[in-house]
Amino acid sequence: MDFKNLTILHHPLIQQKLFYLRDKRTNNLNFRMMLNEISGLMVYEVTRNMPLRERELETPLEKAVGYVLAKEVTLVPILRAGLGMSDGILRLIPHARVGHLGLYRDKKTMMPVEYYRKFPEDIAETEIIVIDPMLATGGSAAAALDFVKNAGGTAITFVCLVASPEGVLHLEKTHPDIPIFTAALDRELNEHKYILPGLGDAGDRIYGTE
Ligand code: PRP
Ligand code: URA
Repeated sequence: MDFKNLTILHHPLIQQKLFYLRDKRTNNLNFRMMLNEISGLMVYEVTRNMPLRERELETPLEKAVGYVLAKEVTLVPILRAGLGMSDGILRLIPHARVGHLGLYRDKKTMMPVEYYRKFPEDIAETEIIVIDPMLATGGSAAAALDFVKNAGGTAITFVCLVASPEGVLHLEKTHPDIPIFTAALDRELNEHKYILPGLGDAGDRIYGTE
C-alpha cells in the first residue's frame, strides 16, 4: 500500500527494538525501557529536516556562527500510552515543552473521549510532535490533531510505533497536511479494532494494567 504522508523508519536499531516490544514475553519494565529507547531513535529521524536558524556565539578563540532549532518544540503525548514515549524523546530534546492530551477509546463505539488537555500557551509558534504508540482506527490521532490545530498549531508531525492501514487512511483523509512517521505498517485491525500483529494494548503493557 502506498501512502503519500507515511514514512516507515527502517533503521535496524528501531526494527530490533520493535521486535522485543511486540514479543508478549517482554515484561512491563523492559517494555517501558525499550519504548523510550525506540522513541528517541525515531525522533532523531523525524527531526532530520527541522528548520534551523543562525545564532552568533563566542568560542574561547573568536566570534562564530552556529545553528539552533528555529522554533521551540512541543511534544503532545496522547495519554496514557503516548506518555511512554515522552521521556525517550525528552532525553534528545530536553528543552521541549510537553502538552498533555488525555484521550481513551470508548469500548463500545471505539470513538475517542477526551478527559484532559493542557497545552503550552505558545503552542502555535512551536514545532509540534504528537506521539502515541498505536495508530489503529485513527480516531484518537485525528481527534488529537484537531485539538492541536484548534490551539493554533501549524507545524505538526504525528509519530507512532505501529500503524494500521485503516488508521493511516483515516489520517490522510482527515489531516492530509500532516506527515506520519511509524516503525511499522501492520496488516489489519481485528474485530475489536486492535492492530494485527501489533503489540497488544500499549497502555496496559507500559503500566502493567492488563
Ligand atoms: C490506545 C492508543 C491510542 C488509541 C489508538 O489508547 O494508545 O491512543 O488506543 O486507537 P485508535 O486509533 O482506534 O483511536 P487507549 O484508548 O487504549 O487508551 P490508553 O492509552 O489510556 O490505554
Ligand atoms: N490500542 C492499543 O493499545 N493497541 C491496539 O492494537 C489498538 C489500540
